[in-house]
Amino acid sequence: MPGLVIVGTQWGDEGKGKITDLLAGDASAIVRFQGGNNAGHTIVRHGEEYKFHLIPSGILHADKYCVIGNGVVVDPKVLLEEIEGLRKADISTANLRISSNAHLIMPYHILLDTADELKLGKLSIGTTRRGIGPAYADKALRVGIRVQDLLDEKILRKKIMAALESKQQAIRMLSVRRRKLQKEGEPSDDELPDDRLDLHSITEAYLSYGHRLEPYIADTAKLCWAELDAGRKVIFEGAQAALLDLDHGTYPFVTSSNPIAGAACVGAGVGPTDIDEVWGIVKAYTTRVGSGPFPTELHDEISEYMTERGHEFGTTTGRRRRCGWLDLVALKYAVRLNRTSALAMTKLDVLAGLETLKVAVRYRSREGAVLEDFPYHQSILHNVTPEYVDLPGFGDEITGCRDQKDLPAEALDYIRFISDFVGVPIALVGVGPGHDQNVWISAG
Ligand code: GDP
Ligand code: IMO
Ligand code: MG
Repeated sequence: MPGLVIVGTQWGDEGKGKITDLLAGDASAIVRFQGGNNAGHTIVRHGEEYKFHLIPSGILHADKYCVIGNGVVVDPKVLLEEIEGLRKADISTANLRISSNAHLIMPYHILLDTADELKLGKLSIGTTRRGIGPAYADKALRVGIRVQDLLDEKILRKKIMAALESKQQAIRMLSVRRRKLQKEGEPSDDELPDDRLDLHSITEAYLSYGHRLEPYIADTAKLCWAELDAGRKVIFEGAQAALLDLDHGTYPFVTSSNPIAGAACVGAGVGPTDIDEVWGIVKAYTTRVGSGPFPTELHDEISEYMTERGHEFGTTTGRRRRCGWLDLVALKYAVRLNRTSALAMTKLDVLAGLETLKVAVRYRSREGAVLEDFPYHQSILHNVTPEYVDLPGFGDEITGCRDQKDLPAEALDYIRFISDFVGVPIALVGVGPGHDQNVWISAG
């Protein structure tokens, strides 16, 4: 029963999409188990760039099931746009399946998320404004609307009516505050979503999405069981990453789901013993989009170098990603949370040309205490100073390397230092965005 989970070990955008596409070669199904279209996964094949938000990163393999599991929150409009994009690119979606139990992102979720982010609410997380938090909140409140509800007009209408009623007051308050803010000059109209929410038009739109999505709606847990029980490999593809985890990340600057490996079971409907391997994806340096603590963040020419060479702009929102050195205190934490069996290190090519590569090996608290482990108290994390080990950089470009022996000795030393520090083998190194731009690393 080979189940393999792929997870991000930092703050997202580690290159999970590329590695999922690569490892999907010998799998029979690729299953998204959490998150929504806050995710943005880029895959480059034969010079062609594909960007996916909801569609699992295995979709370029025509013969594999691609599953949107029950733990995902689905914006049906975005999903249909992605399906249409694939159709235009002549990529089959015949094997796409969507869990009937997955929850839907509704227009009011996007409205509430956006309003919070425009500081109409109290705290700005720097969310992707895709309605993720409000959708998961409704799921927990048991007032969410599920994919299966799209197939029953009566139920759908009733549930939207109930949801709108319960949100009317919040939406009215937002409109008042919005008008007040606009009188003061900001935000402009194009920054704000339409706040006219109407039962009839939402129901009609969602019924029409339902008709178009119906062929894909299925009992996806059962599909996973069948594949696993037949001994075929199933990949559970995580979105976001450990430090954005709702329970274990840098709360409240996190997403509203659990991107760690343990959540694959809940979000797909399989058991822990179905999982045999957990691959953690780690970028050779660190990036973060949105607000929140980031101990190794840089604001100098080195972060510029990383941004430029790594094209560090978000796939979903186009925002510039914050950049900094690799943080091994945080990586050790992520490795343990996920109990990763292997790591894939991406974007090592971006660091070529830097004289020195720094890696954070411990933190020092504001009071001077040495912290070997990721602090469990958020206030401490906000005020730590990382302490670094300097490793020699490598001058030559490595984008053409395909074999371990082609890599410069300094690059191999960097890889070894990291795997020794966190106690997990780095099995694969990415040397470019292309499907074949990888180097497999042998053990020992
Ligand atoms: P994800 O959200 O974890 O799937 O990652 P994203 O797709 O948002 O961001 C990773 C970016 O890095 C994408 O543009 C990839 O094409 C690119 N990428 C992935 N692996 C490598 C690599 O090894 N080297 C370089 N230079 N780019 C890579
Ligand atoms: P992938 O799968 C990077 C961040 C947002 C924000 C916080 C909460 O491409 O790695 P949300 O919209 O989820 O409520 O925003 O989480 N975030 C991501 N950052 N990559 C992602 O996904 C992200 N998904 C959410 O920037 O800080
Ligand atoms: Mg991404």
